[in-house]
Amino acid sequence: MAKDAIVSSEMAKKFATEKDTPYQRWVREQGLDIISAHFVPNLRTVDLKPWAQRGGKAVFINHEASRTSNDCYVCEIAPGGKLTPQRQLYDEMVLVLDGRGSTTVWNDAGQRITFEWKAGAIFAIPLNCWHQHFNGSGQQPARYVGVSYLPSVLNLYDDVDFVFGTKYDFKNRFNGEPDYFSSKAEVEGFLSRTNFVPDAVALPLITAKERGAGGGHIRFNMARGAMASHISQFPVGTYKKAHHHGPGAHVIVLSGEGYSLMWPDGEEPKRYEWQPGTLIVPPNAWFHQHFNAGATPARYLAFKNWSPRNSQGVPMSWISRRLGGYQIDYADESKLVRDMFSEALSRHGLEPRMQDAYAKELETLPPLK
Ligand SMILES: [Fe+2]
Repeated sequence: MAKDAIVSSEMAKKFATEKDTPYQRWVREQGLDIISAHFVPNLRTVDLKPWAQRGGKAVFINHEASRTSNDCYVCEIAPGGKLTPQRQLYDEMVLVLDGRGSTTVWNDAGQRITFEWKAGAIFAIPLNCWHQHFNGSGQQPARYVGVSYLPSVLNLYDDVDFVFGTKYDFKNRFNGEPDYFSSKAEVEGFLSRTNFVPDAVALPLITAKERGAGGGHIRFNMARGAMASHISQFPVGTYKKAHHHGPGAHVIVLSGEGYSLMWPDGEEPKRYEWQPGTLIVPPNAWFHQHFNAGATPARYLAFKNWSPRNSQGVPMSWISRRLGGYQIDYADESKLVRDMFSEALSRHGLEPRMQDAYAKELETLPPLK
């Protein structure tokens, strides 16, 4: 099911009581606005409202598909301010959008660590640890975006006190290790085991040809949690292959300029222009494809927690449609895709640099069935 599949309002009414969820009720109780969109032009400038429960200002971002799997919010801490301490029975990934500050993490056993961050940092909150964020500047606000799988947990237990108030230390996740939030990383394949990336914009990546056009890639498992994240970069004059997957992947542009196409299978692609700070959350099973249309390399970060894989453990979204996967090979994309890209680059006096990627793909392209 990739299309919207809209039915009559009479039929929809019969399912209306099942549409509302404990997560949605909790969101409404927070008294914040909800940006219900799969494209947000700039997280740095979205309007925020005071969030009594956390002590900062914030806005929720979720849409029809993503709100069943992932919570996303943007939060700002006032100059010299701090948020209320919180613990939570779910993993949360954080990207700092603006400013600088620090976070203190502690458990019931009394183990406590404080680490500092600034714009561009990524970290995870260890499961059920108490944590508190502080703005390190007396002049500038500090703003971050947090993504988690809160809807799955809240919808499962339907008990806010349980999710935010259970006294239990997951010692295998956090045990007071003094270097827990240092920038050390163990890299294996594409996967980096780390709990803190000080600067996601400058982090060196690993070469990945599987997603197209000589891009760099790195995947993270932070705080030994169940949230996945990765960074992808693609050079000037290149674009990624189109693919689809389940709901809830939150793609945040870190650098560069370009656009993405998104479309449900069988429909015309729609174009979304991006810049650093743009958020794209592809709806369930919609194809999406990212294009670097600018004069510098482009880089994005994705937070997500669910990824269908084949029996070998390879994400379906990395596998050719010709093999039954969810990725469209360059050889199978429509002419419109290439024409639009050439036109976009020509505004910078640039031309596509895709010939090598097209040729390389042909070396291993599975035959059409
Ligand atoms: Fe994707």
